[in-house]
Amino acid sequence: MRGKLVVGNWKMNGGLAANARLLDRLVTEWQPTEARSLAVCVPFPYLGQAQAALASTAIGWGAQDVSAHASGAYTGEVSAAMLVEFGCRYAIVGHSERRQMHGETDGLVAAKAGAALGVGITPIVCIGESLAEREAGATDVVVQRQLGVVIDALGTELPKIVLAYEPVWAIGTGRTASPAQAQQVHASLRSALTRARAPDVKVLYGGSVKAANAAALFAMSDIDGGLIGGASLDAMEFLAIARA
Ligand code: 13P
Repeated sequence: MRGKLVVGNWKMNGGLAANARLLDRLVTEWQPTEARSLAVCVPFPYLGQAQAALASTAIGWGAQDVSAHASGAYTGEVSAAMLVEFGCRYAIVGHSERRQMHGETDGLVAAKAGAALGVGITPIVCIGESLAEREAGATDVVVQRQLGVVIDALGTELPKIVLAYEPVWAIGTGRTASPAQAQQVHASLRSALTRARAPDVKVLYGGSVKAANAAALFAMSDIDGGLIGGASLDAMEFLAIARA
């Protein structure tokens, strides 16, 4: 059984005091089971804070990006080895906000995933189509292209990733893919993963997930949990999603 995973992506939100309250609430309230896991991906400066708060708990933590390079003259970048020093279990790579605002290509995203795997960090590889691509009927072509580059780059390491399907039109818009719409894409992604000998990769859904819609999404056979943006900043809402 694949088990469910719910990951909070704080994006560029938070501050020391607010983070302390949020993390404390998660630690107090979260009861893990075999079937479900919880993690938060925080801004780089707060990795030490997350590590201190979560180290002796069942809640994982990670970063929202990682450099494809090991070290050197890459101003502003953070290497996978640095993330290891802060105990990261996960690194999000290829979030649509980085693809759109920072020009990240499919190839760079795959290289970042490889860099994370190289030090034992699980990359959460994000893929998803824009509204224009969906309306043009190109959803499957786009997500299969994005995933295909990762499959080709990672080879036998592929089973170690987590995949996140995040339709760009559903991120931060309050517009969620319906459970059936999401399941259709997840099933197609699952087929590609199965052909690539990685049938058990978790495929998360992301895009305006809330406590009110999480249970219906997570009930779909190929949806293994969620990558949660805005709603992960509210401890009780985030926990309600994780329990859904
Ligand atoms: P929202 O949940 O705020 O729509 O963001 C989703 C997301 O981008 C998670 O990575």
